[in-house]
Amino acid sequence: MSTSFKFDSVIVYKRKKIAVLVSGNGSNLQSIIDACKSGQIFANISIVISNVKNAYGLDRAKKNNITSVFVDHTCYESREQFDQKILDKLRETNPDLVVLAGFMRILSPIFVKELKGKLINIHPSLLPKYKGLNTHERAINNGEEESGLTIHFVTEELDGGPIIYQKKVKIEKDDTSESLKDKVMAKEHQAYPQIINLFIKNRLKLINGQVYLDDKKASKFGIDL
Ligand code: GRF
Repeated sequence: MSTSFKFDSVIVYKRKKIAVLVSGNGSNLQSIIDACKSGQIFANISIVISNVKNAYGLDRAKKNNITSVFVDHTCYESREQFDQKILDKLRETNPDLVVLAGFMRILSPIFVKELKGKLINIHPSLLPKYKGLNTHERAINNGEEESGLTIHFVTEELDGGPIIYQKKVKIEKDDTSESLKDKVMAKEHQAYPQIINLFIKNRLKLINGQVYLDDKKASKFGIDL
């Protein structure tokens, strides 16, 4: 449940806070902004952070009056120092959930440990297949008949944290990496707000490295929507 307080005998529910980290276009960020606006997600985006100065995701934040911050990773001597700076920025708004939406930096253990259980990522493949980059191209070149997306809690292992949800997408004979990307992306924009909403409603949790929905253990491929 959301935190609440009484004001003149009216119960007021406080919206939770989400922080979003982006490095590029931010189309997933846009789907989250839209879901917060429409009420699909009962939360506000408190901050958008990017390591890329001209990331369009930062413009999307500005257009929606969301605090946007650029942190230049090239100005830091180590990954840990950069991550500390991001953590400092996050602490200023104290978000309930931190969402990686196309954030193209590997995060250090200090970062992941501090946010354990409230840090999630979306990846354009059916993990554990095709970790890393160029997922659509590799899936097509390997003659896969299906691909898709994975939403997972983030742990120290790159693209290896407990799976929250997967959605499959059929690969047709004439699909290119671009057409497959478009099909998977369309599903990402539906799935990410739905999963975020479950977390915000306290229905989705990470307990001892295991994903739970409504106190029911998820399978290793995640939950059903
Ligand atoms: C998405 O494909 C997401 O799965 C991956 O990075 C891409 C980000 O796209 N992690 P966008 O910036 O949200 O448009």
